[in-house]
Amino acid sequence: MKVLVIGGGGREHAIVWALSRSARVSEIVCAPGNAGIAQVLLHNGSKSARCVPVNTADLAAMLRVVEAESPALTVVGPELPLSLGLVDELERLGLRVFGPTQAATRLESSKSFAKDFMQRHKIPTAAYGVCRCLEDLRRELPRFSASVVVKADGLAAGKGVVLCNSHAEAEKAAAEIFSGALLGTAEKELVLEEFLDGEELSFFALCDGKHAVSLAAAQDHKRIGEGDTGPNTGGMGAYTADGLMSADLEQWLLKNVAQRVVDEMAREGTPFHGILFCGMMMTPQPDGSIKPMVLEFNTRFGDPETEAILVRLESDILDLFDAAIDGTTDRLAIKMKPGASVCVIAASGGYPGKVVNGQPISGLDSVRNPDTVVFHAGTASKDGAVVTAGGRVLAVTAVSGQPSSSSTTPLEAALAKAYAALEKISFNGMQFRRDIAWRALRKGL
Ligand code: AMP
Ligand code: GLY
Repeated sequence: MKVLVIGGGGREHAIVWALSRSARVSEIVCAPGNAGIAQVLLHNGSKSARCVPVNTADLAAMLRVVEAESPALTVVGPELPLSLGLVDELERLGLRVFGPTQAATRLESSKSFAKDFMQRHKIPTAAYGVCRCLEDLRRELPRFSASVVVKADGLAAGKGVVLCNSHAEAEKAAAEIFSGALLGTAEKELVLEEFLDGEELSFFALCDGKHAVSLAAAQDHKRIGEGDTGPNTGGMGAYTADGLMSADLEQWLLKNVAQRVVDEMAREGTPFHGILFCGMMMTPQPDGSIKPMVLEFNTRFGDPETEAILVRLESDILDLFDAAIDGTTDRLAIKMKPGASVCVIAASGGYPGKVVNGQPISGLDSVRNPDTVVFHAGTASKDGAVVTAGGRVLAVTAVSGQPSSSSTTPLEAALAKAYAALEKISFNGMQFRRDIAWRALRKGL
């Protein structure tokens, strides 16, 4: 069958790569895709995925691509097309599509919707207030301690969250969100939230409108600098490892977060189909226990977590998409390779600030380890060469089962493979973090 994937980053490259391994997939189109996606060969090596240009902020343009390509299934990668209602439009046309509707996407596209939803349904999350002007904020602030978080309501590609150490800082951040100084466009609403301490965990559930099943847990590194310092980015790396999430925690997260979301979204008339990405903070309590609290929901695969998750997926990814659409995830047995995986992002010089595109990338062909996949996050083809086209350029991803030497853990082995690949690749200004997974390594994973 023919599958169309919407998007053009590392996440979409990983989705196309997973689809290419399915014996049921005979053609893959990706819009807009990138230089790496265009080189993905189908399972029998017969042909490669094809990329067609599209602006993923333009709903009508995406619909034209679907009409022209007439795929048997469309998979929507990024949040923007979901929030524009691409899934709703395709469903109206009677077409098969993987992803949540516009109304269900509000769990990600409106932080105030998500917080009100969690409060209504007793899903654990930080205390909050919704503010529509600075007076609202000043009225709310006295209820909060000095460490507060100010979040623009809408989609902001990771730039809409400001961690503050005082109420004065919160007022300044709020003024910048309302004026448009922070995001370039003025926001009408923000969420003020209590700061939570702890370690973060990303939990991914596959949802079919009725059931939520566990896919994987991962951790990502959002800061540019080693030791998780410096400005936030789209993500500098991620990893998964057996033992990152205990079986008890997995059951707890399914019952108290993911399945509750699915049940209550269905009851409210907006059933959730697709990937529910639960961004958790594992908060230490005075009695020594750890309480998981929801920081945010995303209604799609995370990037770069997806690269690290899909290299471990042994099941046919089409079976996952079909089950989510058809309401049959409860009958699905998702198989993952045991061990660990890691994804290290190679970014352009200057990222997350201004970058210079068009830098030729060398060494891509010298990565030959079968356990290593170089996903492209921001690349383009120019005169037959692969060049940089964005802040995050490559997502170098490696997987490992139990290594032969028992003194090495699967995570250490996966890291060694990813960093060995990075040694072979270069472009002008290339930067990457050398400490991906440091928290897990410290815990002996
Ligand atoms: P969000 O987009 O809501 O996930 O926020 C982005 C990042 O900001 C999170 O991954 C956390 O690192 C941080 N963050 C968000 N909310 C809080 C909070 N209430 N307490 C501490 N850190 C937070
Ligand atoms: N890795 C975080 C995200 O995809 O939003």
